[in-house]
Amino acid sequence: MIIVTGGAGFIGANFILDWLNNNSSPVVNLDMLTYAGNPENLSAVEDDPRYTFIHGDIGDRKLIAKICREYNPLAIVNFAAESHVDRSITGPAEFIATNVTGTFNLLDETYAYWRGLNDIQKNEFRFLHVSTDEVYGSLNLEDPAFTETSPFLPNSPYAASKASSDHLVRSYHHTYGFPTLTTNCSNNYGPYQFPEKLIPLLIQNCLKGLPLPIYGDGSNIRDWLYVGDHCSAIREVLAKGRTGGTYNIGGNSELTNIQVVQAVCRILDKLLPESPHLPHEKLITYVEDRPGHDRRYAINAKKIETELGWQPMEIFERGLEKTVSWYLENQEWSQRVAGGEYRQWLEKNYSSRKVL
Ligand code: NAD
Ligand code: TYD
Repeated sequence: MIIVTGGAGFIGANFILDWLNNNSSPVVNLDMLTYAGNPENLSAVEDDPRYTFIHGDIGDRKLIAKICREYNPLAIVNFAAESHVDRSITGPAEFIATNVTGTFNLLDETYAYWRGLNDIQKNEFRFLHVSTDEVYGSLNLEDPAFTETSPFLPNSPYAASKASSDHLVRSYHHTYGFPTLTTNCSNNYGPYQFPEKLIPLLIQNCLKGLPLPIYGDGSNIRDWLYVGDHCSAIREVLAKGRTGGTYNIGGNSELTNIQVVQAVCRILDKLLPESPHLPHEKLITYVEDRPGHDRRYAINAKKIETELGWQPMEIFERGLEKTVSWYLENQEWSQRVAGGEYRQWLEKNYSSRKVL
């Protein structure tokens, strides 16, 4: 069996649903249920005997030791994190607590568990740490895409906290021979993404006829990957990746933010011909930029393609249309996850931003 941490969040929930569709081995989901975690994301599998949910913190060493003793996992897949750059700018402390200290405690306790396994189990065991391309910093337009050997130059407290955890994971392999794997992935989109992130925020605001807040001039570039493709890449790395290594995962789909907004608006214009807010593009509003806003991310995914034979299956326009349709069909989900805490966040992040 495997333990997934942070499985009630966006990518973790997609991964568990995918895993149970593609695999027979059971999954324990350890999640602290922060504002971003929602057990309803897994309602489709809550009665599946292969699925167990445990409410808890990856930083709780006693709990980690107990779960390892009880379930004897052969892999840990660590998604648990504070994941939103803007929140890391207004409140970095929680990012250090979970992404650095929490990951360290999880790593160190599972290393202690691994030491007690027999040789066959030791060989099979994997600690897979899910990370981000943001650890590499920002690219200029003419720069080549990030490879696994690009230097770490994290710019936001979020990116710095993830870079720290990546270094800790690397060191446990190098020093102790602990069988670790790290993945560094580009921006994901798809079902179950919390509405604070760009794409679901745009969809929600279009539906309500609210401004679509674009930071700065909208020319920042991200390399977008459909979440299902991220999940299949993690499965490949877990099954066949070389321990101690890192694998970049990306969608070969670099777009400026304004191109993303235009694509969302185009799809909603088509799917909602009766909307009172047509054309949705008229809602675009340029607002004061994010401090330290990284200009461009781009992933060179040659290593995972050549070593493991993985490639993304989804093209952006089709993946985006599937995503927009999912949000239209799951409006109650969006309403339920966007409670009081989320409304306070919107107020904090957007009300004092000057319109440009
Ligand atoms: P998310 O914010 O949607 O979900 C995070 C989950 O972790 C939530 O369920 C939350 O309750 C849980 N969690 C937070 N702190 C915890 C703790 N201390 N103990 C246990 N659970 C805790 O995040 P996401 O977008 O699904 O990202 C998952 C992982 O993938 C993160 O590590 C993130 O850095 C990485 N990543 C995300 C993206 C992206 O585009 N979203 C891209 C690359 C990498
Ligand atoms: P986001 O989804 O927060 O991901 P990340 O910062 O991790 O890449 O943002 C994606 C891009 O969209 C990023 O360049 C910031 C920009 N953005 C806006 O322009 N307006 C917004 O309201 C948000 C949330 C993001």
